[in-house]
Amino acid sequence: MYTLIIFGASGDLTSRKLIPALYQLFRKNRLPKSIKIVGISRSSYTSETWREKLGESLKKFLPDDFRQDFWNAFSPSIFYFAADVTQAADFPKIETYLQTLEHHEKSQRVYYFATSPVLYENLGQQLAHTSCVTTQRLVIEKPFGVDLQTAQSLNDSLHAHFREDQIFRIDHYLGKETAQNLLVLRFANAIFEPLWNRNHISDIQITANEETLVGQRAAFYEKAGILRDMFQNHLLQLLSLTAMEPPARFEADAIRDEKVKVLRCIRPFHSPEEILKNSIRGQYLGYLSTANVAPDSKIATFGALRFTIDNWRWTGVPFYLRSTKGAGCQTTQIILNFRQPPLTLFQKNGTPDHSFQSNRLLIQIQPAEGIQIHFQTKVPDTEMKIRQTEFQFNFADRFPGEMPDAYQRLLLDALHGDASLFARSDEVENAWKIIDPIQKVWDAPSTPPPFPYPIGTWGPEESDLWIQRFSQKWFDACPVLSPNLP
Ligand code: BG6
Repeated sequence: MYTLIIFGASGDLTSRKLIPALYQLFRKNRLPKSIKIVGISRSSYTSETWREKLGESLKKFLPDDFRQDFWNAFSPSIFYFAADVTQAADFPKIETYLQTLEHHEKSQRVYYFATSPVLYENLGQQLAHTSCVTTQRLVIEKPFGVDLQTAQSLNDSLHAHFREDQIFRIDHYLGKETAQNLLVLRFANAIFEPLWNRNHISDIQITANEETLVGQRAAFYEKAGILRDMFQNHLLQLLSLTAMEPPARFEADAIRDEKVKVLRCIRPFHSPEEILKNSIRGQYLGYLSTANVAPDSKIATFGALRFTIDNWRWTGVPFYLRSTKGAGCQTTQIILNFRQPPLTLFQKNGTPDHSFQSNRLLIQIQPAEGIQIHFQTKVPDTEMKIRQTEFQFNFADRFPGEMPDAYQRLLLDALHGDASLFARSDEVENAWKIIDPIQKVWDAPSTPPPFPYPIGTWGPEESDLWIQRFSQKWFDACPVLSPNLP
């Protein structure tokens, strides 16, 4: 028997992501039969009224997949209990409710923390005091701390009652199919890995562009900014998966050991000047007039960082990470740019032709998931004219049907106790160690404000000049794989 308890049940994440993911798993017959899902928040729903509300939101978020008969079969496993988790007195009541629901039998409980992060520490402590915690699991949404110190303090507080293997820190990018496929691409094929190093790769670019603006989330965003919101977690996770060594075994700790090693090898910056040289910030025009934004806010909605990884595989290969809110298109891509061939054989107007682009491997995480390899081809019926062409693999083309939302995979793994796709405590802390000094310099009063950029672009123009200073160029292509292939 399983009991999944969602704290923060009336929040947006629950109706937008968690319940739709659970419904899809039920529809596909992947959810354990004996599961009970219990929503907990302060709002005064009953199980019946909450189910009605969820039914309505499912129709909105899954317009193509919602079927009333499935919902009628699934919804009786959903329950609601109104409680205030800021009140210690409510936890024994929650425990009594859960035990009654479980008929006092043994159940694998998974507590999902989808509340405001300020409540996480208290939630962990109260659960430890009121219920038997030895076999229970906690799933914890991001943000996990707001800096190294708060992340360490949250880890310490949770570790006082729970073992590390009971704690599942969510980074939903790890649940994305293409992020997982990175491991398969690299370690289940023999043709890529021999090239996957400093001898063949000149630079790596990881871009996460979003069209969305900060909007309703401005109050949160004013404290977070792009660095905490996207880099500390998602972008560093993608970097780790791209740069890690092959794990000894395909299991949670072996994989996470290798990812942590990458984070430890990222060369720290030694001065504010070095940070400002290796980073650039932007803010979209109009951000300052958003409700709940300070009129002189210096919060970045665009950021780019240049990292070097000091290990045998990557020395000398810069990693450029970039994220934009209010971008012209929605796309998350990892681009591996290869070195030029050692000898320029082909001529243009009698001189060696250096103009052609080097080979490129492009891994598109979203919106259309797939891979492209860019290579040079002779243009037919010309003397020796060369043009870039590509091999393309598109998941939607090869595997028609649904690409599951990341939360389906993550929820299932948490229920089954597989932590491979969750961040370990040392991973989170090492990521903060990298981000904290940069954030400090970005926040310093003496640091100039971010460069403005118009909504609908890839960020400020200055970012092109910035990367040119390192003799490189951004690869800017709105979803290179069409999102609508049959
Ligand atoms: C969240 C960030 O973690 O990830 C958001 O808080 C961001 O600001 C979102 O929009 C991006 O996720 P996805 O899956 O839409 O790329």
